[in-house]
Amino acid sequence: MPEYGKKSYWDDRYKNIEGDPDEPFDWMCGWEQLESTISPLLPLKSCSMLVVGCGNAPFSAGIHNAGYTNSIHVDYSEVVIEQQRKRYPQVDYRVGDCLNLTEFEDESFDCLVDKSLIDTMMCYENGTETTEDLFREMHRLLKPGGRLIQISLHKEDEVRPFNDTEGCDFVCTTCKLVNMKLFDPNTSRKESTESSLSHTFAVFDKLQGTSLEEREKITSQHPLNIVNALSDEALNELRAVVELDKPKDPRVVSWRDCNRPSDLFDVFEAVIEDYSEIMAEVLEANRTEILEDIVLAKASADSSSSPSSSSSSVELSPEEAGFSSSAASAVSTELELDEDLREFIVVD
Ligand SMILES: C[S@@+](CC[C@H](N)C(=O)[O-])C[C@H]1O[C@@H](n2cnc3c(N)ncnc32)[C@H](O)[C@@H]1O
Repeated sequence: MPEYGKKSYWDDRYKNIEGDPDEPFDWMCGWEQLESTISPLLPLKSCSMLVVGCGNAPFSAGIHNAGYTNSIHVDYSEVVIEQQRKRYPQVDYRVGDCLNLTEFEDESFDCLVDKSLIDTMMCYENGTETTEDLFREMHRLLKPGGRLIQISLHKEDEVRPFNDTEGCDFVCTTCKLVNMKLFDPNTSRKESTESSLSHTFAVFDKLQGTSLEEREKITSQHPLNIVNALSDEALNELRAVVELDKPKDPRVVSWRDCNRPSDLFDVFEAVIEDYSEIMAEVLEANRTEILEDIVLAKASADSSSSPSSSSSSVELSPEEAGFSSSAASAVSTELELDEDLREFIVVD
């Protein structure tokens, strides 16, 4: 696992070997997904806000552009802060160690937002103790009645215990938000494990320093009603959808070079279907004919091959393999398969 708990890891990540900036990247999800959940929890756009461990996420600019202009965005990597200042000059970026933000006085902020800094803290040496230090620092910086919003890759029962960090006086609500990257065509379904279905969304309200009346009012609001929180039923449905989709998704099988016709015979039936469609597009030909050609070719190869010659290393010419001339011309020449096409063709 990368050394997420080390500053040198982040500095190196943010500038590649040539010194070029890393592409902006949002861990877990961006402002677009979170806006409808966060906005009702922070109704006052003019609130003083600190976004901790901001990295190079477009999230910071999203939050600022949504109207939270009284926000400061901190990271301890000078490298990334310099890049972000150039990318988003309208945003107030600062360099700072979130475990010890001495530049800010006690009770400076109405709200704090942490997207995945907690996960990084858990990767530090003595991760639990360091995360507790983070909570104490967040607690110090919040005004009485102030709110810490946290989004984490960790599960709810790993996040909740930090509510009881010694020296902190919080009340919290946690819930799950769906991992939208599961449904992003640019990311692989290989991500769809049980633990990747959802992220934890947590709200910690600081009670320390509030009057008895305020304390009661804040406490009585918990558990908070959180927009887009996944119900158990929705999570089960999601589990079922992802599980059901898995066997249908050819991309779960690894790709190996599929330029030879004989390789095609090892391809799953379902993938042959997909392939005929792609070939039909390439050749601007009739898909049914191509599919029939492939099936015929496969049948004739099956019947003519001896057990020793049935391996994928046997080289048949396309015509020998029973392809029509149009399909043959497509498979006999070295097909320049682009990445999308390769994803569909699966040979183990
Ligand atoms: C997992 S990334 C999250 C980045 C961003 N918040 C996002 O959601 O995409 C963690 C970030 O925390 C920063 N970080 C780690 N330890 C820190 C510390 N002690 N003080 C400030 N930033 C820290 C890293 O430099 C990195 O940018």
